[in-house]
Amino acid sequence: MHPLLANAMMDRFDALDSRTRALLIRSAPLMEEWSATFCGKKDAGGMEEWAKTHGEDEAQPESCDWYHGTWQFLRLLNMVAVPPWYEFYNDALSTLLRRRPRADVLISAAADYGMLATLHEAMRTAQATPRITIYDICRTPLRACSWYADQHGLAIECVCDNLLTCHMAPASFDLIVTDEFLTVIKSEDKPVIVKRWRELLKPGGALVTTAMIGGPTTAALRQGYAERARSLFEVHPDSFPHNTDGRRHHLLERFDRFASNHTRHMFAGEEEILRLFDGFGKVLVERTVTPGECVTPTDSYQIVAEAS
Ligand SMILES: C[S@@+](CC[C@H](N)C(=O)[O-])C[C@H]1O[C@@H](n2cnc3c(N)ncnc32)[C@H](O)[C@@H]1O
Repeated sequence: MHPLLANAMMDRFDALDSRTRALLIRSAPLMEEWSATFCGKKDAGGMEEWAKTHGEDEAQPESCDWYHGTWQFLRLLNMVAVPPWYEFYNDALSTLLRRRPRADVLISAAADYGMLATLHEAMRTAQATPRITIYDICRTPLRACSWYADQHGLAIECVCDNLLTCHMAPASFDLIVTDEFLTVIKSEDKPVIVKRWRELLKPGGALVTTAMIGGPTTAALRQGYAERARSLFEVHPDSFPHNTDGRRHHLLERFDRFASNHTRHMFAGEEEILRLFDGFGKVLVERTVTPGECVTPTDSYQIVAEAS
């Protein structure tokens, strides 16, 4: 590999702090194990939705195990969008938690415990003890959140359901937070979830989220992503003790499968985002740059929308 490319990869890799990396080294194989049992078939929704209808993968995924079982190995390579890519979270979350230290907080879907860890950090900043509820359509990320909660003495409630269709009482939450949920759901579902979030917020509550800008995930982008994952994996064998028992080939296949199936439904720009949040009171959007997944780097928006 060219030394300049190796250096660039090293910079990207070093973006992960040592505590998070140590935790991921422990939990990545657990998530892979849980995904084999907990990622089930769904009638609609979930990370497999796009690949079931459009994917070129011959073995069409029946569940989201290719996503949840691979997610944390890709986090070890800093190749998937996660809350630490966004600087605003601590400030945005702790500001609201200071105002409402016993807030009812909803994590509105999460790939693993990453968002819970970010919320936990904001709780420490604000010295707050909110009540935390986590919804996801799949049981694997909820299992990962329970694992994190047990390690850190946090009380959480987990609910496995489809956020687009399930029943939830209006005005239940002071704070709703989720990372890049808007770019995992199809365009026609975006207004549905934003309306739900608005209804679920108590007066004066806030939604905190992010949304990437870009175009479709093309075959060329997928191929580039898979190649980058393989190269980074070879440069950092030390971060994959899971690799020692001859599982190298298996993990590389996982990366290929993730690249074939993972799709972002990105936004064209700020106007489109602002239109979606019409029903909210004050809406703050701030453009930022993240390491990016298929497109490196990727522009994205940090969004704080308050319910009037
Ligand atoms: C919130 S998004 C993006 C992940 C994020 N960047 C992170 O670090 O947590 C991914 C999660 O959305 C969940 N999901 C997708 N569609 C859903 C739906 N309709 N209802 C509830 N959860 C859903 C998936 O199961 C997945 O765990």
